[in-house]
Amino acid sequence: MKELDSVSKKKIDRLRELRERSLLGGGRDRIDEQHRKGKLTARERLDLLLDPGSFVELDRFAMSQSGELGSADKRILGDGVVTGHGRVDGRLVFVFAHDFTVFGGSLGETFALKVCKMMDQALKVGAPVIGLNDSGGARIQEGVVSLGGYAEIFHRNVLASGVVPQISAIMGPCAGGAVYSPALTDFVIMVDKTSYMFITGPDVVKSVLNEEVTFEGLGGAAVHSQTSGVSHFFAQDESTAIQLIKTVLSYIPQNNLEDPPVLKTGDDPNRMDYELSSIVPSDRDKPYDVRDVITRVADIGSFLEIQPQWAPNIVVGFGRLDGRSIGIVANQPKHYAGALDNNSSIKAARFIRFCDAFNIPIVTFVDVPGFLPGVDQEHSGIIRNGSKLLYAYCEATVPKLTVILRKAYGGAYDVLGSKHIRADYNFAWPTAEIAVMGPEGAVKIIYRKEIAKAKDQAVVDKLLQEYREKFANPYVAAERGYIDDVIEPQETRPVLVKALDASFNKRESTPPKKHGNIPL
Ligand code: HXC
Repeated sequence: MKELDSVSKKKIDRLRELRERSLLGGGRDRIDEQHRKGKLTARERLDLLLDPGSFVELDRFAMSQSGELGSADKRILGDGVVTGHGRVDGRLVFVFAHDFTVFGGSLGETFALKVCKMMDQALKVGAPVIGLNDSGGARIQEGVVSLGGYAEIFHRNVLASGVVPQISAIMGPCAGGAVYSPALTDFVIMVDKTSYMFITGPDVVKSVLNEEVTFEGLGGAAVHSQTSGVSHFFAQDESTAIQLIKTVLSYIPQNNLEDPPVLKTGDDPNRMDYELSSIVPSDRDKPYDVRDVITRVADIGSFLEIQPQWAPNIVVGFGRLDGRSIGIVANQPKHYAGALDNNSSIKAARFIRFCDAFNIPIVTFVDVPGFLPGVDQEHSGIIRNGSKLLYAYCEATVPKLTVILRKAYGGAYDVLGSKHIRADYNFAWPTAEIAVMGPEGAVKIIYRKEIAKAKDQAVVDKLLQEYREKFANPYVAAERGYIDDVIEPQETRPVLVKALDASFNKRESTPPKKHGNIPL
């Protein structure tokens, strides 16, 4: 190779020196401080996320153009965010990682421009956007320009919604309006102990409401995973959070025009599972864990539960059937007997809309006594929230497969992937009871006078028995074609695999419109 002349060599040396410097962000001491807090740096996080050698960085030389409030001599290469693209398991993703060592990862004009440039490119080429958040929020020195920068990002989050998947990991502070960018994305993963999200921090809470609360207690990973439902995944540490991002990506397509990847697990599509019949108790009021049904029907080891700790009366998550991605929705009789309430309706509705946007078929396992009754539920809007779930199911045009395991009562029967809202395949186990309401309630209403007159439990028992035989079974619905087939529990997997295979190329469209008006 020809020797470089001294001018060229100097220029190359300068480039190398600048590149080296850009890798250090806010400097060695701040990197050490980040480690002392139990956190990785932005670049270490990207190293864990992306396939080795795949990262292509953009704008490493970008610097803040602001010099207000003493920030002029603190300008740092990259300006507190690392952006670019790389590959996860060989698939293209666009990424940003906040660098807390630079102005506490706070967002100013240059920072926002870098994130927006990366998002615009991701949208153009149809690749997922992954954000690793660790930021003190709007950069105070840049004032309204920071607020404008946030709004530019929010707008892109919304434009990208339903076009490319967006996943956020929260790995440090995320406060004020800054929370809305991750909240607009499809999945939020929070790291235990080191991450928190809130609109107003503990100091403001104290001064406005005189309430004492810690960062963790106000908006830590546990709070958002169990109480608010903001977070979809609770990760013990950063590397678990990053592994979760990769796992989620494995179920979903690159964009709304593609199908999800097919990953054969080696599980026999015709596998029968004879244990299934003993999981659902013959006593219709006895609880059981519906996850035991899901994990036996889906490809072995493929079930990834989403929001497991929030609204546990409904289970949602990804799985695979003969290698194909599916979104699973199932009532959980272990909690509230599997009844639908406000939070479970919202949880399942959002998940169904994600699946529908990204061509992921929906498999529903039904065992539902109805909507949860009560003043609290009514006053907190079960009509509005329940209709979100109904809307999401009706609107979804991906293949919809439904299996009724036991109870399917009242409006909840209609909502949860019934034939009437265009499910493609509806199956029921012989234990299924499809009726306007449970036998006890129904008999009390229609035979009120007879029961009052007889004052005899034997009369009630006889009426209950008659009702059960007549209505609380799957055959009345099957006679009318609302149920395509009544199947033995062990056949569920092969039956669903075949139904999915037959409906996979389904094409269904809804009337053209700007957008619908989901009851928010
Ligand atoms: C500029 C910031 C900053 C910010 C932190 N820094 N936040 N610089 N703008 N928003 C700087 C600090 O001055 C410090 O610089 C360095 O980052 C590290 O911060 P520390 O406070 O030393 O770190 P730590 O003790 O870990 O505390 C982290 C923190 C705290 C809890 C995030 O920094 C904090 O409370 N920051 C302010 C958070 C906030 O209120 N942001 C605005 C939210 S409102 P030096 O050089 O001293 O080390 C908002 C509106 C957005 O974001 C609206 C969008 C619509």
